[in-house]
Amino acid sequence: MSYPEDIFSRMYSRDSHPELLYPKKEDVSSIEEERQYEEVVQTNVFNVMLNRRSQRKFENKAVEDRKIEMILAAADTAPTAGGFQGFEIFHVKSSEIKVKLVEAANKQPYVNAPLVLVFCMNSGRVKMNFPPNILKKFSLQDATLAAAYSQLAAHALGLSSIWIGMINEDKVMEALGTNLVPATILCLGYPQKMLQPKPKRSLIELIHTI
Ligand SMILES: Cc1cc2nc3c(=O)[nH]c(=O)nc-3n(C[C@H](O)[C@H](O)[C@H](O)COP(=O)(O)O)c2cc1C
Repeated sequence: MSYPEDIFSRMYSRDSHPELLYPKKEDVSSIEEERQYEEVVQTNVFNVMLNRRSQRKFENKAVEDRKIEMILAAADTAPTAGGFQGFEIFHVKSSEIKVKLVEAANKQPYVNAPLVLVFCMNSGRVKMNFPPNILKKFSLQDATLAAAYSQLAAHALGLSSIWIGMINEDKVMEALGTNLVPATILCLGYPQKMLQPKPKRSLIELIHTI
């Protein structure tokens, strides 16, 4: 049985852009960077899940391109209905659009974050013979799962994030210039202070064994 080599191979094809494949060991210029590289590739997914905590205060520091690429590549690994990938990601770099998104998100100021990703539903991609409401639900689930994968990937990379669901869909669509309905805005950046994870319900309360 063969598996994809790693997540990096989803970002660039080795054949078409060998020079762009990240990370290459030979690119690692300092011991510190090499240490960080090792941390990333050895991250335990359970620790990432356990330690993730929503964050609304970000440092005024840009997220490195290589981390952004890994966060986007993680979204591309999520399961989707029928494998049709019924979602699109808008990577918002424009500061004017970020300001419009704050407005579209009930004036939540932290939406103006260093890294802003809007996950939209694209039910038109889901080529399955089901009623439109089912296809819409599938595309919502596709977009949501992709965003969740990105959120976890971001935490594995030492970033924090806030999931924004309180949005005016029409205003977000207008800001993005799209007719695709947004599922969520994921706002990310380096945390001003790494917060402790929030306590959750106990499993005994959560799980209903029947
Ligand atoms: C569907 C959904 C919608 C959310 N919408 C918002 C939002 O609009 N604004 C916000 O500040 N946080 C929002 N959050 C973040 C939650 O408040 C946060 O996940 C929750 O308090 C649990 O904290 P934790 O993520 O640290 O476990 C949303 C989370 C989810 C899953």
